[in-house]
Amino acid sequence: MRMVMLGAPGSGKGTQGQRLAERLGVPHIASGDLLRAQVRARTELGRLVAGYLDKGRLVPDELVFDLVLPVVLTAAEAGGYVLDGFPRSVAQAVKAEELAPDSAGPERVIFLAVPEELLVRRLLERAAAAGRSDDTPSVITDRLRVFESETRPLVDHYRARGLLREVAGDLPADEVTEAIAAVL
Ligand code: AP5
Repeated sequence: MRMVMLGAPGSGKGTQGQRLAERLGVPHIASGDLLRAQVRARTELGRLVAGYLDKGRLVPDELVFDLVLPVVLTAAEAGGYVLDGFPRSVAQAVKAEELAPDSAGPERVIFLAVPEELLVRRLLERAAAAGRSDDTPSVITDRLRVFESETRPLVDHYRARGLLREVAGDLPADEVTEAIAAVL
């Protein structure tokens, strides 16, 4: 099964994506995790992308595609994936559709709908516990703005293709997991 998790920062893409991947027996591929790993490993790519991550801006498409697309194509050939954080814009989705065969594209897209005040609360709570560099109040505001302008249009993009399933993401995590299972 090939799945995309779509949602704002803090909506639970990572939490639910991980669970869903385990349930389906496929890899959980999170573009943000792959990018942060490059920063931690101090690679050339990590050096190029660190500033975008810290500011909550989208990393340029060519850098993201070079890093993420090969992983997605390999997973698609091996039986599927749960993709979290990619595509991040309609432009990325269209480019991925051009570069990858239909057999590697998503079969379902789960959109986790969560009110903004809850997103902010979750991210600030995580900031206190985990200290992610983009979980500061001003960067959270910027990430939510980027989501609205760049990523939310993907909801209509995938709805028009009949792939979208919307799930309320503002419930306890176990209930969200069950709701996702119910729409699949
Ligand atoms: P990315 O890593 O994708 O971060 P994000 O979209 O900001 O999302 P988060 O990881 O903050 O939240 P999430 O929705 O995964 O929720 P989570 O499960 O973690 O991207 C980071 C950056 O990388 C971007 O800003 C950009 O710079 C770059 N980037 C990534 N992909 C890119 C791309 N394709 N193109 C360009 N740039 C890209 O949960 C959040 C918190 O809430 C956790 O503490 C969790 O425990 C808690 N929580 C989750 N669910 C629940 C629940 N149901 N109830 C209570 N608490 C919950």
